[in-house]
Parts: sequence; structure tokens; C-alpha cells
Amino acid sequence: MLNKPFCKLLMFLCVLFAWLPLVWADNTLSIVYSGNLDGELEPCGCSAEGNLGGIKRRATLLQQLRETTPDLLVISAGGLLSTDGPGDRLKGEYILKGFELLNYDAVGVQWRDLAYGPDFAANAALPWVLSNADTEKGAVPSPFSSDRLISRGKQRVRFFSWLDVADSPLQKMQGQHSLVDASPKKLHAALLRARKDGELTVVSTTLSSKQFAEQIGLDNIDVLIEGAAYEVYGEARRENGALVVQPGSRGMRLGRLDLTLKAGRIADWRHTVLPMPDSIADAPQLQAWYDEYNAKVKADYLQRVAARKKQQSGQSPFVGEAVCQTCHEKQHKIWFDSQHAIAYEDLEDVNKAFDPACIQCHTVGFDQPGGFFDMNVTGHLLGVQCESCHGAGRAHVEAAGSKALPNAGWPKEKICAQCHTQPHSPGFDFDSYWPKIAH
Ligand code: HEC
Ligand code: HEC
Ligand code: HEC
Ligand code: HEC
Repeated sequence: MLNKPFCKLLMFLCVLFAWLPLVWADNTLSIVYSGNLDGELEPCGCSAEGNLGGIKRRATLLQQLRETTPDLLVISAGGLLSTDGPGDRLKGEYILKGFELLNYDAVGVQWRDLAYGPDFAANAALPWVLSNADTEKGAVPSPFSSDRLISRGKQRVRFFSWLDVADSPLQKMQGQHSLVDASPKKLHAALLRARKDGELTVVSTTLSSKQFAEQIGLDNIDVLIEGAAYEVYGEARRENGALVVQPGSRGMRLGRLDLTLKAGRIADWRHTVLPMPDSIADAPQLQAWYDEYNAKVKADYLQRVAARKKQQSGQSPFVGEAVCQTCHEKQHKIWFDSQHAIAYEDLEDVNKAFDPACIQCHTVGFDQPGGFFDMNVTGHLLGVQCESCHGAGRAHVEAAGSKALPNAGWPKEKICAQCHTQPHSPGFDFDSYWPKIAH
């Protein structure tokens, strides 16, 4: 007969041995991370190198990845919106709607996501996370979760996001800096709790890993998504026990981490960067969303055109290339054979000739008095013309050439830089580009 204590011991050992393999076995977890969409709803297609990313391609790629890796964790460090131009609010609205369709597991909050007010972001059905919102008495309650627990198979992952107080655009405005809490005390406690509960911890921030280590510390962090430098996708690396990755910018690529876990900690990893070129088809389920966005942009544009027509008074300072041709036949011939002359047609080809965010560089004087605003009224100002570079020419023409053009004193490079910017012409090099259009 077995005695009672021995039975208990036996049972205890049975339970222990049943669990041990689970506790010690290798476990794997795949994470796809992104960050810093920077308001790029779609790639502009201005250059082959820059023609990466966009929400429609991302939807397709995520669907493919989820099919091959059903337990995939998909997270974003935030930074979805931009506030560079008047169309960015509408675009932001559609970026958030499009993101809802991507089924992210967690999205960090960055300052740029709050540019149209916290409610603008919070109204989207996205799993936002802001871990250092100031929720002390007197402050407005944060509409964002302070962290998010995500379960994948046996593994539980807790996602945090840290907003850098020093980077606050409101910091200098009185009474507004209460939105975030500069003290890392709460985050420290939450990280410790998560670690004790056997959760894998992921923190996203716009700080560099070095700044984050100095200001907050890397204790109890398994994965740190650090702030991105322009278009830099570094290798994943260990710093003080945390695996540090970098999400790049403009939503052109996704990062992927395939982790091997031992006892809930990262024992090994594989890191891959996934670009999104145009060989990735647009997701059909986002077509309706995209059509609706374009219809709104077009309606906005037509409204602007109508308003401009009413305001239009007096003579335009722009005359159009046909007038310059009368005295500069030789230069005109060279220009006519260049890509600049077909810049508007190229917009029409991609169905974007109604989008102010594109028209500005593909026509003459858009948004300037007397400049291009509409195909019908200003049809002589299509494409990149003489006056895009030399400035408005009416005064020069009326003086039969004796009056210099407005940009006569500009260095050539400055003239090009109006449009050949990094995002739209990443391969621009004056010495190789100028000979192609020299006249
Ligand atoms: C009626 C004839 C005439 C027309 C039309 C005309 N130009 Fe000229 N342009 C001249 C003459 C003449 C000169 C030479 C002036 C000089 O060398 O002093 C000149 C010089 C220039 C120069 C070099 C000097 C400078 O000011 O930078 C540029 C650039 C130029 N024109 C651009 C244009 C453009 C652009 C247009 C159309 C908007 C245009 N021109 C239309 C007659 C004309
Ligand atoms: C800041 C100025 C700028 C803006 C804004 C801009 N473009 Fe461009 N675009 C350029 C320049 C510069 C090039 C030429 C790039 C090069 O060859 O280096 C270009 C080239 C293009 C081309 C021709 C590509 C080819 O294969 O020849 C297309 C199409 C185009 N852009 C579409 C767009 C669309 C669509 C938008 C709006 C979403 C847009 N652009 C906004 C400056 C701009
Ligand atoms: C993409 C920009 C660009 C466009 C478009 C352009 N030009 Fe120019 N043009 C320049 C630059 C830059 C120079 C050189 C100025 C210098 O040498 O400092 C120049 C020089 C000139 C000169 C002076 C030539 C000389 O021998 O000194 C004339 C005249 C001129 N352009 C006329 C035109 C006319 C007419 C058109 C349209 C049919 C035109 N340009 C289109 C950028 C442009
Ligand atoms: C007003 C905006 C604007 C300015 C200013 C401008 N560009 Fe461009 N450039 C464009 C656009 C847009 C395109 C693409 C046209 C297309 O293919 O549809 C382009 C295309 C080109 C191309 C053809 C690229 C290729 O791959 O063949 C060259 C070369 C070029 N630009 C040189 C210059 C240089 C040099 C200057 C300055 C002297 C300049 N551009 C100034 C807008 C501009």
C-alpha cells in the first residue's frame, strides 16, 4: 500500500513532468512590424526606387504572410499621418479607414497621429496603444489603451508604446503638455509585471535605442522598435538584452522577426525586410475604399477650381510655353522632346490629374496667382514648362526680352530642387540630369 504523502509526491511529479516540456520546449513566434507610414496612402510612382509600399499592396502581402504563418503577430509603431499639405486631413481619414482593414494587433501612437487631435485618431477602430498618457487627476482621460495583450498559441505578448515628451509639438503651448507623462515609473512597473507573468514585451518609440536606454532603460524589454531614420532598415541587434529593430519610413517596407523562444525569452531570431514593389498586386478588398478616396479628392479639387474661377481677376503673370517658343525656337525644341513636356499626361495615365498633391509638380505655377488650376481654363500651363523653372514670364515677354525672368539669379540646382526632392526623385543627381535637358 502506498502511503498518502508518497501519493501526493507522485502526483506532483506527474504534473511537473507534464508541464516541463511545455515550459522548456522551443517555441516560435513570428512578428511583422512596421511604422512611419508618414501619410503615404499609396506610392506616387515618380521613380522606380520610390515606387514601394502603399496600403493596397500591404493588404495583399499581409494576407499572403498570414496564410503561410497563421499565428503571425502584426504590429505598427504608428506614425501613420502627415500634415504637410491641405489634402492631408482627408488622406489621413482614409489611411485610418484603410488601416482598419489590415487587422493590425497593436498600433503605437506617435505625435504625428495626434496632429488632428486625439479624437481624430481615437475614432478609428484601431488597436492604439499609448503607454505614457498622463491620466493623473486634472488631465483628460486618454482615449488610448496603455498596453495591449496579444495571445499567439502558447505565447502571450504585451505591446507598449512610449511618446517622447521632448518631441511634443504642444510642449511650449501652456497647459497642453499634460497629454503625456515624462516619468517612466508606470511603464517600468508594467514591464516588470509582464515579465513576471511570462509575457514577451514589445515597446515602440520614436527615440533611438540609445536615447531610450538613457531616458527609460531597457530592463524587461524583449523587443524595442526604435525611431526610424529616413529609409534606413538596420539589422536587428541585441542591446542590453533587448532585440532592437528599426521600421524605416514612408511605409515602403515591412520588417519580419522569426523568433525562437526558450522559457518565454528570445533565444534566437531571424530578421528579414520585405519591400512592396508593384509586383505585389493591389488587394481587391481595398478597391472600394480607394475609389471612394479618389472620388473625395476629386470633389475637393473641383470645389477649389470653382472657387478659383470666381476669384480669378486681371491678367495672369504666366504666359505658357507657346509664347516663349516665338522667340526661343531652339530652346523650345529641346524642351518639347524632354520628359518635362509630358509630365501632365503621365499624371493622366495613372488617373491622378485631379490630385493637388501630384499636380503641384506636374504643372506650371499650381496654387500661385494666375498659375495652373484646371485643364479647361489653364490648359496652356500643363506639364513642367519654361516658367516652372524660369518663373512667370509675362513681364519678360512684354519687354521683348529686355527684362530678366524672376528666377534669373537662382543657381540651377535650386531650380531643380523645387520638384526633384528625395521622395519623388531619389536618384536625382544634377550632373547627370542637367545634360538630359540642357538647352
Ligand atoms: C518677344 C521675344 C521673346 C519672348 C516671347 C520671350 N523671350 Fe526670352 N529672351 C528674349 C531676348 C531678346 C532675350 C535676350 C535678352 C538679353 O540677352 O539681354 C531673352 C532671354 C531669355 C533668357 C536668358 C536671360 C534671362 O533673363 O534669364 C531666358 C531664360 C528667357 N529669355 C526665357 C524666356 C521664357 C521662359 C519665355 C516665355 C515665358 C521667353 N523667354 C519669352 C526674347 C523673348
Ligand atoms: C515634389 C514634386 C512632385 C510631386 C508632389 C509629385 N511628383 Fe511625380 N515626379 C516628380 C519628379 C521630379 C519626377 C521625375 C523623377 C525622376 O525621374 O527622377 C516625377 C515623375 C513622375 C512620374 C513619371 C514616372 C516615369 O516612369 O516616368 C509619374 C507617373 C508621377 N511622377 C506621378 C506622380 C503622382 C501620381 C503624384 C501624386 C501622388 C506625384 N507624381 C507627385 C515630382 C513630383
Ligand atoms: C527644368 C527647368 C527648365 C525648363 C523647363 C526650361 N529651362 Fe531654360 N534654362 C534652365 C536653366 C537651369 C538654364 C541655365 C541658366 C544658367 O545657365 O544659369 C536655362 C537657360 C535658358 C536660356 C538661356 C540660354 C543661354 O544660352 O544662355 C533660355 C533662353 C531658356 N532657358 C529658355 C527656356 C525656354 C523658352 C523654355 C521652355 C520652352 C525653357 N527654357 C525651359 C532651366 C529650364
Ligand atoms: C516644376 C517641377 C520640376 C522642376 C522645377 C524640374 N523638374 Fe525635372 N521633372 C519633373 C517631373 C514631374 C518629371 C517627370 C516627367 C514625366 O516623366 O512625367 C521630371 C523629369 C526630369 C528628367 C527626366 C528623368 C528621366 O528619368 O529621364 C530630367 C532629366 C529632369 N527632370 C531634370 C531636371 C533638372 C536638371 C531640373 C533643374 C534644372 C529640373 N528637372 C527641374 C519636375 C520638375
